[in-house]
Amino acid sequence: MARLMPSVLFMCLNTITIAIILTLIPLFAESRTLGSDVQVLRAIKQSIDPVSITSSSFLHSWNFNTDPCESMGANFLGILCTIPQDNSSSRITVIDLEGDGYEGFLTPAVGNLTELTVLNLSNNKFRGPIPSSVSKLVKLTRLLLADNFFSGSLPPRIYRLKKIGSLDLSRNRLSGSIPGELSGFRSLTLLGLSNNEFSGRIPILAGLWQLNTLDLSSNQLYGTLPQLPQNLRTLLLGHNLLSGHISSIRRLENLRTLDLSDNRFSGSIDHEILTLPELSRLNVSVNRFTTMEVIRFSDSATQLQVLDVHANRLHGRLPVTLVTYGSLTTVNVGSNLFSGRIPPEYGERLGRPWRNLFLDHNFLVGGLPPQFTNSAVRIRGSLAHNCLSCPASVQLCHGGQRAAAECVGGGGK
Ligand SMILES: *[C@@H]1O[C@H](CO)[C@@H](O)[C@H](O)[C@H]1NC(C)=O
Ligand SMILES: *[C@@H]1O[C@H](CO)[C@@H](O)[C@H](O)[C@H]1NC(C)=O
Ligand SMILES: *[C@@H]1O[C@H](CO)[C@@H](O)[C@H](O)[C@H]1NC(C)=O
Ligand SMILES: *[C@@H]1O[C@H](CO)[C@@H](O)[C@H](O)[C@H]1NC(C)=O
Repeated sequence: MARLMPSVLFMCLNTITIAIILTLIPLFAESRTLGSDVQVLRAIKQSIDPVSITSSSFLHSWNFNTDPCESMGANFLGILCTIPQDNSSSRITVIDLEGDGYEGFLTPAVGNLTELTVLNLSNNKFRGPIPSSVSKLVKLTRLLLADNFFSGSLPPRIYRLKKIGSLDLSRNRLSGSIPGELSGFRSLTLLGLSNNEFSGRIPILAGLWQLNTLDLSSNQLYGTLPQLPQNLRTLLLGHNLLSGHISSIRRLENLRTLDLSDNRFSGSIDHEILTLPELSRLNVSVNRFTTMEVIRFSDSATQLQVLDVHANRLHGRLPVTLVTYGSLTTVNVGSNLFSGRIPPEYGERLGRPWRNLFLDHNFLVGGLPPQFTNSAVRIRGSLAHNCLSCPASVQLCHGGQRAAAECVGGGGK
C-alpha cells in the first residue's frame, strides 16, 4: 500500500495536469492569430527573395510552425497584434520591416490584413507596383514605403484610407498624377512623394488642414501653385517644372521651411513671404524671378536664417534692407544680374551673424567695404565673377572677376 501511494498520487496529479491543459487549450486556440492573417504573413514572406533574408533580419524569425501573435517577441519580429479581450482571434496591427534590405514584391494579399494600422517597409528593395488592395486597409494610420523601387501609379482607391496620418512614398519610381482625392485625408500630417516620377499638376490640397509637411520635390510636376494647406510648416517643391507666381505662399503663416528651388517660377519674391513670422529657411534658387521685395524690417521677430535666391534674374542694386533681418546667417544672391556697389552696411554684418555670403556671378562694381578685407572676419562665400576691385589676397575674391568687356554698362543694365 505504502509503496503504491506515490504512484497513485503521481497518477492523480498527472490527470489533474492533463485536465488543466485540456481546459486551457481551447482558450489558447481561440486567442491565436486569425487564419487568414497567418496566410497573408506567409504570402508576404514568400514574395521576398530568400537570399535577401539574412539570418539576423526580422523575416528570418517568422517561423510558421508557431502562431504569429502567440510567439510574437521570440519569433515574428516586426509585427504587433491586437490582444482580444474576448476569445476571438488576434489580428495583425503593425508590420515594420524597415531597413532590412529585402528584395521582392509586396503581395496583394496584404489587403486582407484589415486591422493593420502601420505598414512600414521603408528602406528596402521592394519593386513592382503598390498593390491596389492596399486601399482596403482602411485602418492604416501610417503607410511608409519610402526608399524602395516601387513603380507604377498610386493605387486607384487610395483615398479610402481615411485614417492615414503619414503617407511616405518618397524615393521610389512611382509615376502618374497625384490624385486630387488625396485632399480627403483629413488626418494627414505628412505627405512625402519626393524623388519619384510623378507628373501633371499639383491638385488642390487645401482640405488637408492638418498637413504639416508636404514634400513633392524631384518629380516632373508642372503648372502653377494650387491652393495649399493652411497649416504647412515644411513645403518642399524643388526640382520640378512648376511655373507662375508664388504670391499665394504668403498665406501660409506657419511655414518654417520653404524650398521652391529649380523650377520655372517667375515674378516677384514678395516681402510678405520674406517676412512670414516663422520662416527660417527660404530657397527659391534656380528659377526665373526678376524682383525680390526686401522691406526694412524693424521688428526683431523675423526668423529667417537662410536665404538662397541664387540663379534667378534679379536685377538692380543689392537690397541694403537685408541687413535688418537679424537672424540671417546664410545669404546667397549669386548668379543674378545685380549691379552697383556692395552696400557698406553688408560689411557690418560679416561674421556676425552672416557666416555664408555669396554675391558671385553678378555685375557688382567698385571696391569692397573695409570689413571684407579684414582677415580676422570668418566668413565663407564668394565675390567672384563680378566687376569688382577684389584683391587676390582676400579669400572671398578667389575665382577672379569678369573680363572688362563683360563689365561695360554694368551688365547691360
Ligand atoms: C484574401 O482574401 C480573399 C477574399 O476573402 C481570398 O480569396 C484570398 O485567398 C485571401 N488571400 C490570402 C493570402 O489570404
Ligand atoms: C467564446 O466563444 C464561444 C463560441 O466560439 C462562445 O460560445 C463563448 O460564449 C465565448 N466565450 C466568451 C467568454 O466570450
Ligand atoms: C518606420 O520607418 C521610419 C523610416 O521611414 C522609421 O523612422 C520608423 O521608426 C519606422 N517605424 C514606425 C513604427 O514608424
Ligand atoms: C537651395 O537649392 C539648391 C537647388 O536645389 C541647392 O543646390 C542649394 O544647396 C540649396 N541651398 C541651401 C542653402 O540649402
